[in-house]
Amino acid sequence: MKQLIIAIDGPAGAGKSTVARILSQRLCYTYIDTGAMYRAIAWQVLENGLSVGDTDAVASVAENIAIGLTEQDGRQIVTANGRDITEAIRTPAVTRAVPHVASQPAVRRAMLICQRQMALEGGVVMDGRDIGTHVLPTADLKIFLTASIAERARRRWSELTAKGHIVDFTALQEEIAARDKADCERDVAPLIQAADAVLIDTTELSIEGAVEEILRLCRERDSGV
Ligand code: DC
Repeated sequence: MKQLIIAIDGPAGAGKSTVARILSQRLCYTYIDTGAMYRAIAWQVLENGLSVGDTDAVASVAENIAIGLTEQDGRQIVTANGRDITEAIRTPAVTRAVPHVASQPAVRRAMLICQRQMALEGGVVMDGRDIGTHVLPTADLKIFLTASIAERARRRWSELTAKGHIVDFTALQEEIAARDKADCERDVAPLIQAADAVLIDTTELSIEGAVEEILRLCRERDSGV
């Protein structure tokens, strides 16, 4: 089968990273989690004691950081300048800081160059918010993965309560709705479905179901159907 370039976009909690990871394993492709790249920049900004509002300093971090994304025992390892930050980029402090960093034009420019370079050889599944629209507009297959806000909140609630956190479901729903609004309404690379993307709604579809549907679309693309 041809080494395809697959772009998966969608809001937080739709199942993008899980679907993209399983898909890349099935196809023996490279998985590129662009959200982790923005998180790595936000982490480095905080680590250096910089303010997310200092756009020159943030730009300099984005232009000079060496982000590594590798797979180890089915798990993605993220490094920044050689340091393992896999766990560190998932803390609430980084999650709060990352939208401020990801909305800066200089940061997006630096990541665009980097992400295009990573996809040059093909055989990649890249997920994010602007992959099909900005980063890889000529991708072989574009997917827009979504789910209702209530379902995404339910998944997040289960994840958090399983870890022992006490969370208010209504507040979680409001937080997700606010995050969607910020992602969709920002000036730079907003979250929108590309005109040629296939919409997959996972509200009532399992992860496996979504993966199977994408594999079917890959076979179609490969045979030129
Ligand atoms: O998918 P995630 O939660 O790990 O993404 C982290 C942040 O980065 C989130 O605020 C959305 C943003 N992001 C983006 O602006 N563009 C991308 N291609 C990927 C993520």
